[in-house]
Amino acid sequence: MTTDTTRATDRSFLFVLGSSRPDGNTEILARAAAEQLPAGIPQRWVDLAQLPLPDFQDGRHETDTWPAGENEEALRQATLEATDIVIASPLYWYTLSAHTKRYLDYWSGWLSVPGTDFKERMAGRTLWGVSVMADHDEVVADGLVTTLNHTAAYLRMRFGGVLFGNGSRPGQVRDDERATIRAKTFFQREAPLARFPYEEGAGER
Ligand SMILES: Cc1cc2nc3c(=O)[nH]c(=O)nc-3n(C[C@H](O)[C@H](O)[C@H](O)COP(=O)(O)O)c2cc1C
Repeated sequence: MTTDTTRATDRSFLFVLGSSRPDGNTEILARAAAEQLPAGIPQRWVDLAQLPLPDFQDGRHETDTWPAGENEEALRQATLEATDIVIASPLYWYTLSAHTKRYLDYWSGWLSVPGTDFKERMAGRTLWGVSVMADHDEVVADGLVTTLNHTAAYLRMRFGGVLFGNGSRPGQVRDDERATIRAKTFFQREAPLARFPYEEGAGER
């Protein structure tokens, strides 16, 4: 089922690139899907390899606070400004890349920044995934899908699912006809509120 949701003028997309090489397959596939978004919807692209974050330090339960670095602050602002966040991560060891995982670890820190209301502000926004892998069977990426779905459920976000593609060498995803076709309508998909498996209504559309 498709909806008109991508036509809404108040939407803005943040594409978070999590590959550890430039011009990779995941970015190619994410750009193919993004090309289909209406021109009036702003798109912002950030490459985590170009905005490196230090390893996340868990200071959530400490009384002392320390200032956020420049890249952390830029990513936090970009995250809070978007209605739709697209995690574009290659499949690395059956889950998200380290760059992407570290970015999500920072979300935990942002949850406890006084005055930010990160959790309240993220509620109702939409999380999407794009991922390219060498394997031809997407079932091996279940771990990545679960991570994104549960992250969205925790924050009471919507989850639009993951656009998958196949490829190993840079550019190889262009040969994946099925992925190219799916990219054309990916952002028109319904994005229901994400649910944990134990919640009522989980799995219903
Ligand atoms: C560290 C690392 C781990 C990988 N792990 C997997 C994997 O678990 N399953 C898989 O199918 N492909 C795996 N691959 C292959 C990549 O998913 C594949 O090359 C993909 O096209 C990379 O996307 P990119 O070009 O956007 O970086 C791995 C590649 C690297 C570098």
